[in-house]
Amino acid sequence: MADPVEIPYRHNLYKGLPVPDFITPERYKELETIHQSRVDDVFIATYQKSGTTWLQHILYELYDHPQGEVENINDGVPWIEEYSQDKIDALVSPRIFKTHDRWDWIPKGNKVKYIYCYRNPKDVCCSYYNHMKNVFVGHYKYSGSLSEFFSDIFIKPNTSEQGWYFDHVAGWLEQNGNPNILFLTYEDMVEDLKREVLKIIKFLGLQCTEEKIDCVVNSSLFDSMSKNPKVNYTWRDGDKKDPNSKFIRKGKVGSWQDELTKEQSNQIDKLTRDLLEVPFGIKIRDT
Ligand code: A3P
Repeated sequence: MADPVEIPYRHNLYKGLPVPDFITPERYKELETIHQSRVDDVFIATYQKSGTTWLQHILYELYDHPQGEVENINDGVPWIEEYSQDKIDALVSPRIFKTHDRWDWIPKGNKVKYIYCYRNPKDVCCSYYNHMKNVFVGHYKYSGSLSEFFSDIFIKPNTSEQGWYFDHVAGWLEQNGNPNILFLTYEDMVEDLKREVLKIIKFLGLQCTEEKIDCVVNSSLFDSMSKNPKVNYTWRDGDKKDPNSKFIRKGKVGSWQDELTKEQSNQIDKLTRDLLEVPFGIKIRDT
């Protein structure tokens, strides 16, 4: 039997893949088996560091705060894996969830809507490293360099939370054509946020005035969000190693160019081409 792969940060395992250590394998199983979906449930699904919090904020605003005014966006748009089933069942409709589930793990339902947002893997890698190493350092207890993170975690198939970036994105892209899934990219959102918000409104069948749309877009710009204590994770400041490190950090396409080497970039290019771009006929922009 192959040696178990060493995973150098705090985690649990579900189906052989690392998941956050504060979410039990039983909770993942529960979501696959007993969770009751409602027809108006909406899931924001992402691989970590791909624009999850951005979409949580946008949807909560578009839906006029269905769970009331909250101090922390995660109370309005809960991370379904993290919440207990009782708390999930007690939420009023429409429920909007955040999830990092792979497609095969996610609760299904006939009319449930999913918005899957993906981001180029180089920026995901750098953002994910910052997340583990600087922002949630007390939680992950990860102390490696970016180069170690790249080779020991990000580029290996079974060592990142929820598994490999390339498997996660491919698993969702295989569902392309499912009318209940809207695919977005972080790069498109950076390029023209209003255009992408209009796609979301159309997909969800929402009625919004022009004024409301502009208001949502303005409050979702990087500068607004980085100052907004509901979404900028300043409530986790105690967990940081360096008080200046930020959850809403750069918000750019291509900032990996300051952080990854040419060789690392080439390695990612090859995987991106072979596992995502060629099989799915897409182009992932990374600058
Ligand atoms: P960076 O670390 O590259 O800056 P998630 O919410 O999935 O964890 O993703 C976090 C990433 O989304 C961070 O990327 C963060 O800065 C970025 N982000 C959050 N809000 C944003 C916004 N309004 N505009 C652009 N990027 C945003």
